[in-house]
Amino acid sequence: MPPSSRGCAPAAVLELGSGPGWLVQRILESLGPLAHRVRFVESDFTKPDWHAGLPKYHAVVTLQAVHELRHKRHAASFYKAAGSLLLSGGCSSCAITSAARQA
Ligand SMILES: C[S@@+](CC[C@H](N)C(=O)[O-])C[C@H]1O[C@@H](n2cnc3c(N)ncnc32)[C@H](O)[C@@H]1O
Repeated sequence: MPPSSRGCAPAAVLELGSGPGWLVQRILESLGPLAHRVRFVESDFTKPDWHAGLPKYHAVVTLQAVHELRHKRHAASFYKAAGSLLLSGGCSSCAITSAARQA
């Protein structure tokens, strides 16, 4: 949601596996003038320390990327690490299909 619509401070959002950028494009469009405040981080989320050094976020989102873990046995530690990046009261979203692509 755009910060102006929320009537509060801008949110820090982490997208995991941005790839070609379907989701990040939507996020940036919603941010409007704040969209320039973007940082790209290269990290391999199949590695145990993929989240090392990252700050905390209001939201952690991912779209069509978790399958890149390649086996469900990696999922629990992945979600635990993603959850550790959330600020208190933050939220996370993981989607394996894209509504934009289905439309
Ligand atoms: C299907 S694309 C994701 C689509 C993207 N979320 C979107 O909305 O357009 C999967 C992406 O996951 C990322 N990815 C693949 N393996 C990864 C890994 N081991 N660690 C981190 N990211 C990875 C790559 O950026 C790849 O493009």
